[in-house]
Amino acid sequence: MQFRKVVVVGAGYVGLPTAALLAKSGLETVAFDINKDHVDAINEGTLRVEEDSINALLTDKTVRQNLRAAIEIEPADVFFICVPTPIDPKRKIADLSHVVSACETIASVLQKGNLVIVESTIPVLCTRETVKPILERSGLKIDADVCLAHCPERVLPGNAIHEITNNSRVIGGISEKSSNAAVRIYRHFVNGELHIATDVEAEICKLSENAYRDVNIAFANELAALCEQINVDPMRVIEMANHHPRVNILNPGIGVGGHCIPVDPWFISEIDRENSTLIQCARRINDARPEKIAARIRQAVADIPNPKIVAVGTAFKTNCKDQRESPAMRVIELLTCDGYDVHPIDPEVQGDSYPGLEQAAQNADLIVVLVEHDSVIDELSEREERILDAMRNPRILRLYRPALTTSLSTIALASVAA
Ligand SMILES: NC(=O)c1ccc[n+]([C@@H]2O[C@H](COP(=O)([O-])OP(=O)(O)OC[C@H]3O[C@@H](n4cnc5c(N)ncnc54)[C@H](O)[C@@H]3O)[C@@H](O)[C@H]2O)c1
Repeated sequence: MQFRKVVVVGAGYVGLPTAALLAKSGLETVAFDINKDHVDAINEGTLRVEEDSINALLTDKTVRQNLRAAIEIEPADVFFICVPTPIDPKRKIADLSHVVSACETIASVLQKGNLVIVESTIPVLCTRETVKPILERSGLKIDADVCLAHCPERVLPGNAIHEITNNSRVIGGISEKSSNAAVRIYRHFVNGELHIATDVEAEICKLSENAYRDVNIAFANELAALCEQINVDPMRVIEMANHHPRVNILNPGIGVGGHCIPVDPWFISEIDRENSTLIQCARRINDARPEKIAARIRQAVADIPNPKIVAVGTAFKTNCKDQRESPAMRVIELLTCDGYDVHPIDPEVQGDSYPGLEQAAQNADLIVVLVEHDSVIDELSEREERILDAMRNPRILRLYRPALTTSLSTIALASVAA
């Protein structure tokens, strides 16, 4: 069957660039979203997102010809589901309400010969046990009448168009026929490799990518906590250990943020608690990091009455302005709840209203660098003396800066010579 018209359900960070790339490939594309202001802004051409490459694509002539946004669903040949899948914070299971509602909406216009693709990150078995039955309420049968696939998105915020176009992806059809149909639509806009899988393989594959990162970060974080208990610098230990040809320990940090890594591992454990103990443990280790960092900060000002603390960095990671699930924000919240006078600043998040470290340091007792953005590192190295001069107590606490390779190799050479 020829694909002529596509509806992307959920025109957010993943859905909008995907819709724009489908439109650029020549397909009639509708970005369907429940947010009317967002839909209006897309249609009026006034929407501006954080990424320039997305903004540029939205003004492309072919894209403007083929793409429109809508608040009402309409029939199409292909439907992409790109709605949020947050976590239920108490029960640590996926909140599938947006996926369920998207499927119900699609079912109302589904036709024989259609293809439905779930790009949202979903728990294992969700495609066949949640999505399929809802779509079949249309009276059509999945596989016989309608193709269905889970093709998870791997995009990294900040580089969406390049990543969506060039990343390889897993095409998890509910059957071979569905996988083949999904491959045909992705070939319209993806140059990366397409790996055919089952729907369940695609689900576990996507989740395991983020769980893998989480477990490795948790190891580094646990090692850091352990080293600190015995007054050893974890960064030096990690650098020395990484000279082993088969060891590559990650850097520890103040926790794990963003809306993928702290969330997705729970989507694995919700279907099998017994066989996911390492994954659950890693989640708990990483979630406990802000408490440990807050304790270090309290210790750093323990001798100062009513200390003024400047917390540098509120984003969830370096060189990024996204604050979703930010461990830095959690550290700030913990200290503020304790009654500390905390002044959070972040050059990436605040942009033009960022006061600069020298200004923020006025009468401060401690500057704690929670997120080592490149611009903060530059500012500290260029203006450290003036920053310290401005402070009431000249204390700067930097967490987990990599040890200098040169100093280590010097030690190694010196000991050999001795
Ligand atoms: N952002 C990323 O970097 C990234 C990367 C990989 C995977 N994902 C996954 O992709 C999915 C989408 O994430 P996102 O970051 O694009 O979310 P988002 O919050 O940026 O956008 C989601 C959009 O869906 C709309 N929406 C919600 N319910 C709807 C419904 N029933 N019908 C129509 N529209 C609806 C919202 O109004 C919003 O505009 C999630 O499952 C996420 O985990 C995101």
